[in-house]
Amino acid sequence: MQRWGRVVNQAEANPSVKIAVAGSGYVGLIAAVCFAELGHQVVCVDIDHARVAALTAGEVPIYEERLPELLAKHRGRGLSFTTDLKKAARDSEAIFIAVGTPQSATGEADLSQVEASVSEIAASLSEYKMIVEKSTVPVLTNRWIRRTLLTNGARAENFDVISNPEFLREGTAVEDFLYPDRVVIGADHARARELARRIYQPMIDGSYYRRADRVPGARELGEGVLYLETSAQSAELIKHASNAFLAMKISFINAVSNLCELVGSDVTEVARGIGADERIGQRFLNAGIGYGGSCFPKDVRAFYKVAESVGYDFELLKVVERINSVQLQHFMKKLRGALWNLRGKKVGVLGLAFKGGTDDVRESPAIQIVRTLLAEGCQVSVYDPAAMEKARPLLASEPELRFAEDSYSAAEGAHALLVVTEWKEFAQLDLERLRSVMRYPVVIDGRNLFKLERMEQAGFQYHSVGRAMVNGFATEKGGQR
Ligand SMILES: NC(=O)c1ccc[n+]([C@@H]2O[C@H](COP(=O)([O-])OP(=O)(O)OC[C@H]3O[C@@H](n4cnc5c(N)ncnc54)[C@H](O)[C@@H]3O)[C@@H](O)[C@H]2O)c1
Repeated sequence: MQRWGRVVNQAEANPSVKIAVAGSGYVGLIAAVCFAELGHQVVCVDIDHARVAALTAGEVPIYEERLPELLAKHRGRGLSFTTDLKKAARDSEAIFIAVGTPQSATGEADLSQVEASVSEIAASLSEYKMIVEKSTVPVLTNRWIRRTLLTNGARAENFDVISNPEFLREGTAVEDFLYPDRVVIGADHARARELARRIYQPMIDGSYYRRADRVPGARELGEGVLYLETSAQSAELIKHASNAFLAMKISFINAVSNLCELVGSDVTEVARGIGADERIGQRFLNAGIGYGGSCFPKDVRAFYKVAESVGYDFELLKVVERINSVQLQHFMKKLRGALWNLRGKKVGVLGLAFKGGTDDVRESPAIQIVRTLLAEGCQVSVYDPAAMEKARPLLASEPELRFAEDSYSAAEGAHALLVVTEWKEFAQLDLERLRSVMRYPVVIDGRNLFKLERMEQAGFQYHSVGRAMVNGFATEKGGQR
C-alpha cells in the first residue's frame, strides 16, 4: 500500500516519461501514438528511412481505425520520428522494443531484429534506462537481451529489462491498446516496476478515461485497467500462451464445424450455445478458413519450439496447426465440389487481408487461396477494401489475376465468388445485384457472412462453413469432404 502511494505521488510530480519505441510497424506505431496520447514524450524509431520520412511528413503507412486522428493530434508535439535509435535511446528513460520477430526457417522465433536493436542501444546506457520487450518473444528472451547489453559494454546498474507484451488486434489496435483487458508488466526489480507504472498511470488510475478528449472505447474503465505485475518470464509466457490458446479456440470450432457438416447441424448455433458458457466465451468461436496473419501461425510454432527446447513436447499445438491447414484445403474442396473443373473458370475473390479491418496480408489465407486458384488455371478477379496495395507485390506478374475496383466488379462474369475476409461491407452487398453480374450464382463463403435464408431467397447456390448447403445439388454434399 505504501509503495503504491509513493508511486502515485511521483507520477503526479512528473507524469510525463520520455519514451523511445524501436520499430514503427503495427505495434510500435500504435504504442507510440498511444503513449503520446497518455501524455508522454515519445520518439518512434525505424530503420526503414522511407517509412520514417512518410511518418514525419504526416502520412499514415498502415490502415488502422483512429490512427490518422491520433497521429495528427500528436505528431510534432509529443511524438516525433527518427532513424537514429542511439540518440533516441540516449534521450529516453524507457525504450520499448517493438521490432519484428518472424518465424525462422526452423520454426523458432527469429530474434535477430531484437538483437540488432538492443546491441545498438547498449552504447546509450550511460545512465539508468528501462528496456521493454514489447515484441512477442519466447520465454527467457529477457535474459538474452540482458546478456547482449552487457556484452556490448552496458553496465548492469544502468538498466533493467522488462516484458510488457502487447495484446492489440489489428483493425481495432488503438482501442485495444488504450482499453485493454489487462496490462501485463513482467519486471523483476522495483525501480523498473515504478517506471512502468508511471507510464501506464493514467490507465491504472482511470484518469485517462475521464478526460474529455479521450479516444472513446467500448468498455467502461473509469476505475482503471487490470494491471498485472509478474516476473519477466511469466509475462513472456503469458503472451505466447494467450496466442496459442486463441489459435486453439479457432481450430477447435473449425473442427466442430466439420462435424456439423457431416451430421447436418449449424456451427453458428452450436458456437452460440458453447460460448454462452462464461467459462468459454463467445469470442474466437467463428468457424472459417483457419487463422492466419503475422502472429498466430508464427507464435503457435514458436511456442511449440520453445517448449521443445526445454524438454517438453507440447503436442496439442501440433494438432492445432494441422487442423488449421486442413481447414483451408477443405474450403478449396467446396469450390471444386461446386464447379467440377477449375481450369479456365473465372473466380471472384472478396478479401485479401488476413482478417477484416486491416490492410495486413502477412500469412493471409486469402493470398494462399488466390495463389492456389491461379496455379489451378483459374482467372481470378479480386477485391479488398484496404489491402490491395499491400497484396500487389505478393501477387505480381500473374497475367490471370485482376485487381477489381469493387465487389461487384470482382464478381462480374464469375463462375463462383469466394468470400475469404470478413469485411463488414461484404456482408452488406446487394445480393440481387451481385447475382445479376455473375455467370453462375455460386458463392463459397469462408466467413459465414450471410444468412442461409437470405442466400436462398437471392437464388444463390451457397456453401458456407459448418452450415447446410443452400440450393446445391444432392450429390454435392457427399462430395464436399
Ligand atoms: N501485428 C500485431 O497484431 C501484433 C500484436 C501483438 C504483438 N505483435 C508482435 O509485435 C512485434 C512487432 O510486430 P509488427 O506487426 O508491429 O511488425 P512490423 O513488421 O509491422 O514492424 C516492425 C518494424 O520494426 C522495424 N525494425 C526492424 N529492425 C529495427 C531496428 N533495429 N530498429 C528500429 N526498427 C526496426 C521494421 O522496419 C518494421 O517497420 C512482433 O513481435 C509481433 O509478433 C504484433
